Amino acid sequence: MTQFLSANDAPDINALINSAKAFKADPFGQQPGRQKMVINLFFNSSLRTRMSTEKAARQLGADVITYDASGGWGIEFADGSVMNGNTAEHVREAAGVLSQYCDVLCVRSFPSLEDRAADYEDRVMKSFVKYATVPVVSLESATRHPLQSLTDCLTIAEHRTVARPKVVLTWAPHPRRLPQCVSNSFAEWMRAWGEVDLIVANPPGFNLAPAFAPKNIVTHDQRAAFAGADFIYAKNWSAYDEYGATTTNFGDWMIDEEKMTLTNNAYFMHCLPVRRNVVVSDGVLDGDRSLVLQQANNRTWAAQAVLASLL
Ligand code: CP
Repeated sequence: MTQFLSANDAPDINALINSAKAFKADPFGQQPGRQKMVINLFFNSSLRTRMSTEKAARQLGADVITYDASGGWGIEFADGSVMNGNTAEHVREAAGVLSQYCDVLCVRSFPSLEDRAADYEDRVMKSFVKYATVPVVSLESATRHPLQSLTDCLTIAEHRTVARPKVVLTWAPHPRRLPQCVSNSFAEWMRAWGEVDLIVANPPGFNLAPAFAPKNIVTHDQRAAFAGADFIYAKNWSAYDEYGATTTNFGDWMIDEEKMTLTNNAYFMHCLPVRRNVVVSDGVLDGDRSLVLQQANNRTWAAQAVLASLL
């Protein structure tokens, strides 16, 4: 691997899962990070991604610097721009400078949700890849969250009781409009992994981009989708078609105990943070089929597998 931005950068997902499992069994077993530096650059908030990536780097023997880029110099991404506005530094220099300070550069940058074409270009992440001279890891971009998705593959691999489980990615209510990154990425990785039957359930108007969720795996009937499911993965996302639009008319999309009885005693998954009793009821989240804390734990081992490969 030379970068980690999407499932395309993981030609053998099972090899990465196995590497993550090995680190989980023996966190300090390999130290490819000795005398190396990892920089984490955050343009947006984080709890899990920040902590788990720092922990993973340290367990590999690396040093790590985390930089809150939202409080730093405004970075310009447009080529040829006359920089007489709010941006003080071009990504060409920023990426070039940071590359001299580290061996792996990790970046988080969310979408604007205003301009679909610009967001789906993934300009921030691609600019860092273009101008950095070290491998770049996405800590969540405008379109994807690959470390979360690898974690989700690992968590399903650990808990499945059938070779090919039925996995439902379901839209759930949320008071704010959210990116499509986690859901795009989850669908991309489940399909690339090829070891689950994936259904995406969402209200009309909330289909993900067809490149991530083609129409043949999409339903607007959440209850029908839940029938016989082995894993329920809940997430809110704003609309792709009417880009960035959301709704406060949530209908009956919250996940609760009654809906979970429609499943094959499914596990409940969510990447966190989660809004209790909006996305999912307390009873499901606190129930013995909830995997949300195991998922958060697995973020460390997934990050360790990826960083080890790049270091
Ligand atoms: N799941 C996840 O990425 O959490 P954070 O936004 O807290 O990093």
